[in-house]
Order: sequence, then C-alpha cells, then structure tokens
Amino acid sequence: MKIDKHLHQLPLTKTNPDFLEQFFGNKEIIPMWVADMEFETAKPIQEAMIERIQDLGFGYEYRPESYFRAMNKWYSSHYDLILQKEEIIFSPSITTSLAFILEAFTDKNDSIILQPPVFMEFRDVIRKVRRKIVKNPLKLEKNRYSIDFKDLEEKAGLEETKAMILCNPHNPVGRVWTPQEIENIVKICKENNVLLISDEIHKDIILFGNTFTSVLQFAGLYENIIVCTSEAKTFNLPGISDSMLIFPDKEKRNILKNAFKKYNLGRTNALTRIALEAAYNEGDNWLKELIFYIEDNVNLILFELERSHSKIRLIKPEGTYQVWLDFREIFDDSKKMFSFVTQNSGIGMNAGHWFGREGALFMRMNIATSRDQVVEAIQKIIKVVSQI
Ligand SMILES: Cc1ncc(COP(=O)(O)O)c(C=O)c1O
Repeated sequence: MKIDKHLHQLPLTKTNPDFLEQFFGNKEIIPMWVADMEFETAKPIQEAMIERIQDLGFGYEYRPESYFRAMNKWYSSHYDLILQKEEIIFSPSITTSLAFILEAFTDKNDSIILQPPVFMEFRDVIRKVRRKIVKNPLKLEKNRYSIDFKDLEEKAGLEETKAMILCNPHNPVGRVWTPQEIENIVKICKENNVLLISDEIHKDIILFGNTFTSVLQFAGLYENIIVCTSEAKTFNLPGISDSMLIFPDKEKRNILKNAFKKYNLGRTNALTRIALEAAYNEGDNWLKELIFYIEDNVNLILFELERSHSKIRLIKPEGTYQVWLDFREIFDDSKKMFSFVTQNSGIGMNAGHWFGREGALFMRMNIATSRDQVVEAIQKIIKVVSQI
C-alpha cells in the first residue's frame, strides 16, 4: 500500500494541531486515532478523478445509470444483494441520516438501544435529538466480545424502546456479527416492533476469512430495518464521499424521503460520483491488498505483544482497521491510563472510555498506516507500560 506522504501538510481532522493539543495535550503526537487511512486511495479512483477535473466544467451532477450499475456490481458480487434504486436515500453523512431517522420515527424521550463500547457519535446524535439511550452492553469473555441476547430481549421489550442502532461490523471491538447473531437481533426487534438501524460503514474491511452479513439479508423477515452505509471508509474517501441509507419499507421510506427533500439533501457532486463509480468498478484489487496489509499489521501487533510478554491484550479484530487494546491488567484508572500512555509513548490513540464507560481501560489504535509505524507505535507503548 502506498502511504500518503502529504498527510501531515493537509488540513485533515486527524492531524489538525489544534485537535491534537485539545485531545492529547500535545501538537506533536503521532495521530493513530480518527478512523481514516494513511494510504493513497486506489489508482483507478485517482485517475478517474484527475480525468474529471480536466473537464473543467462543474455543473449540477446527477447519478447516471452507469453509477447504479457499478454500485450493484459491487453489492451483488460482494454481498449477494441487489439494491433497488427507489429503496435508496442519499445523505451527506451517516450521522446526518441517524438524526433524521430518529426524528422521523421516534419521539422525544423514547429510548434507543446501543451496544457499548460503541462509536461515540451514536450516543451524541441520540442526545442531540433528545432521545434516551438504553444500553445493551457487549459481553467480553475469553478475549472475544458477544451480544447479551437475554438483556437485549429485556431492553427491546421496554415500553419506551423504539429503535436500536447496531454497529455491523462493530467499531471499536472489531466483531463481524455472524448470520445467526444478525438473525437473532432481527427477530428480537421484530417481536418488539423496534426499528433496527444498522450502520454498515465498515462492511468491506473483513479480516481473517470472516464473512459480513448485512441485516438486509433478513429484510424478508422484517421490513422495519434501515441500513446506513457508505464506501468512504473502504477507499479512504471520507473527505469527498457521501453516504446512503437503504430502507425496504416503502411507506416509511417516503416519510424519510420527504424529510430529506425538505432540506434539499441528497445531491451529489462531480468528484464523489466519479470516485465511487471507479471504486465500485475497479476497486477490488486495491481492497484485497488493503485487507492483506491490515491483517499483517494485526499480526505484527500480536507478535510484538507475545515477544515482549506484555500484559496488554489485543482483542483480535474480525473486521475494521482499528485494534482494541486491553490494559485492564496494568491500570485501574482509565483517565490516568490515557494520559500516562499518551504522554509517555507519544502515540495518539482513542481512549476506550470515549466509547462509553464500558470501554474504560481500553484504547483504540488505528492501524491503517505503514508497517513501520505500527511496529514503532506498539513497541513504544509496550515499553512505557512495562515500566509500571
Ligand atoms: C461506525 C461508524 N459510523 C459512521 C461513521 C462516520 O460516518 P459519517 O462520516 O458518514 O458520518 C464512522 C466513522 O468513524 C463510524 O466508525
């Protein structure tokens, strides 16, 4: 994989000195936090965008048939899914979609199920739209996370529970939910008439022979499900890409379509359209190479932890390009741990408690970067904690 050498000169969230100062207390920290990659995007995507820019005119764009053909080539070959054009609503971002969905189908003070530790913006969006969170915390046994289905049944059965946001695959713990687990979730939501919202943004980065299952595979069982997805993470395009939501239920979908229309959302732009079409048509080889590289980076971390007999544990990811590191054997205070590890190693990772208190004493490291940087980072972290 080719590293983007200009990363540190670009105005990216991940390297923004003000954010580094704010979150890590140090502008010079090595940023291994925000979930985007340090790899150059695929060559066919770069070439298609360069060609488009040379056209010079940038009028209003729409998504032509070739776009939908390319999209369905990707979804059918990867996920055995054919997306119907009318089932899709385009959105500027997944977090935008979540706010619209919750406002359209739930009321103030209704409860929404989350499975912490989980992507923090789920919590933030629920709070912003003044709904409540009901937790179905993940269980961690023998170094692997799973769903507490008994608790999920109870939470889904509560009078005030109206929706669930599933992270599939799960950020930050890296689980790729199995077909059986997804079916159980769908059944529980159906029995309790809970709207199931599945965030599938990490669906393409599936590691070590695992297989991704979309909740859309169960749309025949239950219509009240919405998938929010995008290929932004897959191809390192968060700065130019938009997202979409897929909602099989026609009547409810129309409610949402009207809400989006009200604010004139869902347009595209020249570069997003071109980049995604190229990605769908020609991104396969790059993605295979990426997955191979990420698996290698996971293995390097495992190797370094074992070699040094470190007390840090790696929760081996089944998907995503984040690793979830367990420091519970070493520390007993999450904030002190975060500040000690960050200041002494010089590595900027996400503190586990940012993902909910269930993430306390863990850290999330973004490993979509060079092998050298991954090895250097984990060696530094091992060294500083070994002094305790
Ligand atoms: C699970 C998950 N959903 C959504 C997003 C962000 O998506 P968007 O930028 O489209 O809001 C992220 C980014 O890290 C994520 O991990």
